[in-house]
Amino acid sequence: MMKVAFFDTKEYDRPSFEHYGELKGLEFKFLETKLTEDTAELAKGCDVVCVFVNDTVNAPVIDKLYEYGIKMVALRCAGYNNVDVQRAYRKVHVVHVPAYSPYAVAEHAAALLLTSIRRIHKAYNRTRDFNFSLNGLTGFDLHGKTVGIIGTGKIGRIFMDICRGFGMNVIAYDKFPAKDSDIEYVSLDELFDRSDIISLHCPLTDETRHMINTDSIDRMKKGVVIINTSRGALIDTEALLIGLRARKIGAACLDVYEEEADIFFEDRSGHILDDELLSRLISLPNVIVTSHQAFLTEEALNNIAETTVNNIVSYFENDGLCDNELCYRCGNIETCKKERKQRCF
Ligand code: NAI
Repeated sequence: MMKVAFFDTKEYDRPSFEHYGELKGLEFKFLETKLTEDTAELAKGCDVVCVFVNDTVNAPVIDKLYEYGIKMVALRCAGYNNVDVQRAYRKVHVVHVPAYSPYAVAEHAAALLLTSIRRIHKAYNRTRDFNFSLNGLTGFDLHGKTVGIIGTGKIGRIFMDICRGFGMNVIAYDKFPAKDSDIEYVSLDELFDRSDIISLHCPLTDETRHMINTDSIDRMKKGVVIINTSRGALIDTEALLIGLRARKIGAACLDVYEEEADIFFEDRSGHILDDELLSRLISLPNVIVTSHQAFLTEEALNNIAETTVNNIVSYFENDGLCDNELCYRCGNIETCKKERKQRCF
């Protein structure tokens, strides 16, 4: 039976993975710790490691996994910015779950937006305290507002449809604009200039890191609402804080944070949070932070487990072929992924 070392296990991961693992004959070794250089050793004796967004799969970790005979890193998420794919090439196969429920993430972005602009988080706390005052709860209509969507892939497009349902004007920027679509693509600068609300749905790459920074915030409309359900480092958090304190940014809805790796997903109540930037963000009334929760629906958890298990099984049963392999064969993961018809290596 094939053994899978499952790093960074949470209570909500186990039922779906145990179910699909049993169906397909995989044995999971559930580990609470994250994968790092220090913990890689725990995967000894396994065939595969299964990791999530905040596990570290850098060059030293890949070298160790290779030394232990691990054949595959199975990401149970879509994003792979935590994996040195170039280093993995010819050592360890890397598979991911390209889509599990884009609806879950897009709907969470919409939930954050509505909560924020209609002050639902404030109202909820007030009425629990029998405070029925409306002072300070004035919101604004979404109808007629312009939303700028950065990244028109699976999640960005669903969020776009939701926004259209509210009667919003949608403009978008994508490095690879969709052909034959009715999307109004504009340059990034024009998107910053025109949007009342900006929602990030592109991957984190060297190019997109800190795309929301002092310069881009300077261009934005006063009162702009920024939503990030993608990856924390798309935003320069210091610049965001300055923009919020200067009242330039009207609100921020954040499901991700650039330094989230050692903070999110854990119960830290009762501890003093050492992260100054995050503490300051959370203290602002117009900032909502959820801890990388956008994916967390029953549908998504089931799809993640089913696809991950199928990825592993299909690779081992299919002579090294798996549609969801992240390939680095031609030196560029974006084009390689799209053009590959055969095995990665
Ligand atoms: P996707 O691959 O379907 O779409 C990404 C889009 O971004 C593509 O259209 C691509 O052309 C575009 N893009 C690539 N480089 C760009 C650039 N430099 N500038 C602008 N656009 C660029 O991905 P999907 O499924 O829509 O996911 C989007 C992101 O959402 C993921 O990268 C991931 O980071 C994040 N995510 C967050 C989750 C959460 O729980 N908060 C869960 C799942 C994904």
